[in-house]
Amino acid sequence: AKITYIEPGGQRQELVVPDGWSVMEGAIDKGIEGIVAQCGGGCSCATCHVYVVSGAVDEPDEAELEMLELVAAERKPNSRLSCQLEVGPRLDGLVVQIPDTQY
Ligand code: FES
Repeated sequence: AKITYIEPGGQRQELVVPDGWSVMEGAIDKGIEGIVAQCGGGCSCATCHVYVVSGAVDEPDEAELEMLELVAAERKPNSRLSCQLEVGPRLDGLVVQIPDTQY
């Protein structure tokens, strides 16, 4: 699916990310700036924080909601952990913005 990442500097990067990957994995694979993903996708670090600008994402589960309390940048209603967003046809056209800091 096509995913657009807006990097902390405002640069837009449009990638085609394979279905079944997470939005975080797509970013790390292509060296998108601003996503750290220290825990490697285990939903236990909160350094893969993004803001969903547009796209049909599912609601976060309990574990993700808990980790979202620990994000470094301001938590907003559209805050998500990108390792918990699984890429698939429904996410085609998703736009996420990466906050200035993950620590
Ligand atoms: Fe650690 Fe997402 S990569 S919570």
